[in-house]
Amino acid sequence: MKGVILAGGLGTRLYPLTKVTNKHLLPVYDRPMIFYPLETLVKAGIKDIMVITGGTSAGDFLRLLGNGKDFGLEHLTYAYQEGEKGIAHALALAEHFAGGEKIVVILGDNIIEKDISKEVQIFQKQKKGARILLKEVDEPQRFGVADIKDKKIVRIIEKPSVPPSKFAVTGIYMYDSKVFDFIKTLKPSNRGELEITDVNNRYIEIGEMTYGILDGWWTDAGTFTSLLRANMLVAKQRGSL
Ligand code: DAU
Repeated sequence: MKGVILAGGLGTRLYPLTKVTNKHLLPVYDRPMIFYPLETLVKAGIKDIMVITGGTSAGDFLRLLGNGKDFGLEHLTYAYQEGEKGIAHALALAEHFAGGEKIVVILGDNIIEKDISKEVQIFQKQKKGARILLKEVDEPQRFGVADIKDKKIVRIIEKPSVPPSKFAVTGIYMYDSKVFDFIKTLKPSNRGELEITDVNNRYIEIGEMTYGILDGWWTDAGTFTSLLRANMLVAKQRGSL
């Protein structure tokens, strides 16, 4: 399976940290943020990876990651997202790279404790559709939230003021090639973006969405508080705190 890391967007919630650089190049403890999702994919056995980024610091990703040698990779593929029109808009750029194969997608600001190999193996055996990973959180209203009935996700609501559960949709998504057809039918949301939640709801509507519960801690790093939390969690994991 191929992997895609989405590292575009403006990172406005981290301004002025992101005034002159890309959010995913900021430090999380002892390494740049982008290293973590890249390592998550590599540890899951994914070797063919595309990094999608944008903005004025896009060239820095090439200097930082090169061909992926430091991660045991033979090559890395890059794409440039024009504008910041949403997660699904960025993912559309991977259609040619995916070449009809199934893909594992990870958001560039998602950092996890454990590895997702088992989940990737489960999806490898899944004949079609999508699989997402959920995590129980204290502040579900910050995320896409799964409404679960009889152990099935019946819909996902993006940043609900009244969350239907405490299960956030993490930024790790596994898709078959239909994902690119679904993206082509999307309309921008109220925040002017093509939403990955709308893509996931399409899979739910056709009965092709499965899910797992992510093992170990998970955090995003897109706000001051979550970036600080990411730093603390990694420092603790390394035994430095
Ligand atoms: O972290 C998980 C959450 O990520 C999910 O629970 C939500 O359903 C999902 O919508 C997303 O929520 P956020 O509002 O936190 O996403 P954010 O705009 O911070 O973007 C997350 C990453 O996606 C970002 O680090 C890079 C990538 N991205 C985002 C945008 C808007 C792009 O590559 N291009 C973009 O245009």
